Order: sequence, then structure tokens, then C-alpha cells
Amino acid sequence: GLPRQVTVYEVGPRDGLQNEQAVVPVEVKAAFIERLADAGHKIIEATSFVHPKWVPQLADADELLARLRRRPGVRYPVLVPNERGLDRALDRGVDEIAIFASATETFAAKNLNRGLESQFDMFEPVVARALEHGVRVRAYVSMCFGDPWEGPTPVPQVVQVGERLLGLGCYQLSLGDTIGVGTPGHVTELIKAFRSPERLAVHFHDTYGQALGNTLAALQAGVTTIDASTGGIGGCPYAESATGNLATEDLVWMLRGLGIETGLDLGKLVSTSVWLAELLGRPSPSRVVQALSKG
Ligand code: HMG
Ligand code: MG
Repeated sequence: GLPRQVTVYEVGPRDGLQNEQAVVPVEVKAAFIERLADAGHKIIEATSFVHPKWVPQLADADELLARLRRRPGVRYPVLVPNERGLDRALDRGVDEIAIFASATETFAAKNLNRGLESQFDMFEPVVARALEHGVRVRAYVSMCFGDPWEGPTPVPQVVQVGERLLGLGCYQLSLGDTIGVGTPGHVTELIKAFRSPERLAVHFHDTYGQALGNTLAALQAGVTTIDASTGGIGGCPYAESATGNLATEDLVWMLRGLGIETGLDLGKLVSTSVWLAELLGRPSPSRVVQALSKG
């Protein structure tokens, strides 16, 4: 069966903007986040406290957090890879972070400068210290379905990395299809291989147009948190073949048709994506945004 309610975990300001060619001014980022909250988002991943040379697009994370008018009832998690990132986030009063691991050796090296095993040496103290500070920790695992260098990722390998991340004390594990190669049968198989689907979220990039189909498979397998980016922007600078995330508007359109509540205002999401597309100088890749914004 399908859930009655779904939590949308919005990643546009982070996953979306980390991959844009244009440098987006910090005040535009803050305005984007305000508009997302106006549209009803309750979880907005705001930015990343990563090395500024690795992701120059988000080098203004400290300034953005200082500017952000945090609303009661809205959560603003940030990505944190290591203790240096955690220190920066704590300095800014962040109360929720997300670590991001790789399911494959090659992507761990490319994205984190670590190995499949040694990435845990980096994450363990981050999670332990975050929890001591009362900071909630989410974990991502990337390349859950396939990797541009290693091909399809074996399900047991993803489960091993994922269960280990949950075991550190992360409240949720988001399964990332970083390059969008997953298909619904594979999604069902992967989710079923985990002990507790209620602790999982899914994070689909729409490179092969499978994101909505994969989402439906995940909902049927018991997942109720779906990552999406308003306008469908996104990608990972360390995985060239990655394109945008599942668009929040596409997700909301499908869920609305299924009678599933999200609390999001579709009209406000679409106008935010049209506003952002103009600033970024390229149209939103979302089909729903395109359909609903036609004169
Ligand atoms: P490294 O070079 O191994 O870092 O990078 P290090 O630990 O050796 O430190 C080197 C220097 O960097 C030190 O300075 C540190 O202080 C500094 P020095 O002592 O030489 O003067 N440094 C930092 N400065 C500021 N903030 C920091 C920081 N860390 C170290 N946080 C590192 C390792 C993890 C830092 C690097 O690889 C990195 O930043 N990677 C991030 C890559 C990234 O953000 N990728 C995109 C996000 S993941 C994604 O998009 C996938 C996802 O969406 C899910 C999916 O789609 O699958 C989540
Ligand atoms: Mg991503």
C-alpha cells in the first residue's frame, strides 16, 4: 500500500546550487530558502560546510547561515563531511547535519579523498560529537545503484555501508542514486534488503527519467521521506554524468494525484522555480514547471 503522508526533504539550495556554473549571490540563496519556506517546506537542506575549494559554489556557507532567518518549525540541515566542517556548522548554531558516504571505492576517492573503509574514520568522530551537542545527523550513501567507474553497485555492498552509517546513530539513511541509473525493480530490491524501511529516505537524480517511477516503487516499499529539489536543479560536481534531482513539483504533482498529503503549495513552488531559472539563465528541467508556467 501507499502512505497517507509523505515528508519532502528539499535539497535545492544545496544539491541544486552546488552544481551551477553561475555563482549565485548569497542574498539570492537566502531569498530562495525564504521562498521555499513560504511554499510550505519544513526541511530545507541549506548548504554544505565542505572544503571551499572542492565546492566553490557553496563557499559562502558561513555567511549564508548568518543571514538566514530561521523559522520555527522549519529545519535547515547542512552537509558536513568532517570535523572541520562540524566546527564551522556548530559556530553557526546549526542543529541538524548530514554526512555523505559512498557505496563505492572510486567515488569515495573522488568525492571525499578517502577509501570505502577510511571514510568511516572521518565520519565517526563527526557523528559522535554532533550527537553530544544535540545535533541530529542524517546520512547519505551515494552511488547506490551504479557508479560511472565501477558499473552496477552490488546490493549487499550498499546495505553494508548503509547499516554501518545507521549504526553510528544517524536518524535516517538517504539512498542516493547520484547518476540516476536506478530502475523501480532495483529500488524495491534494495529497500527490501534493509532491516527497517522506515529509517530510509530516497534521493533520486533524474538523469534517465526514472526518478518518479523509482519514487513510486520506494513508497510502495514503505519509504515515506523523499528528497527532491525545487525546479529539478542539481547534480554532483564529482560525478560528471549526474544531472538534476527529482523536481519537487513533479513529485508533488504525482502525490497530489495519489491523494497523498505533502503540505506544499504547488503554485508557489512553480513561481519560485521560474524566478530561479531566470536568475540562473536556464529553464527549469521540470516537466511540471514547464507545463504550469506556460502563458
Ligand atoms: P581533503 O583534501 O582530504 O581534506 O578533503 P583534509 O582533511 O586533508 O584537509 C586539508 C585542508 O582543508 C586543511 O587545511 C583543512 O583544514 C581544510 P590546512 O590545514 O591544510 O590549512 N579543510 C576544510 N576547510 C573548510 N571546511 C572543511 C574542511 N575540511 C578540510 N569542511 C574533504 C576532504 C572531505 C574536505 C573534501 O573532499 C571535500 O570537501 N569534499 C566534499 C565534496 C562535495 O561536497 N561533494 C558534493 C556533495 S555529495 C553529493 O552531492 C551526493 C548527494 O547529493 C547524494 C547523492 O546524490 O548520491 C549527497
Ligand atoms: Mg545528490
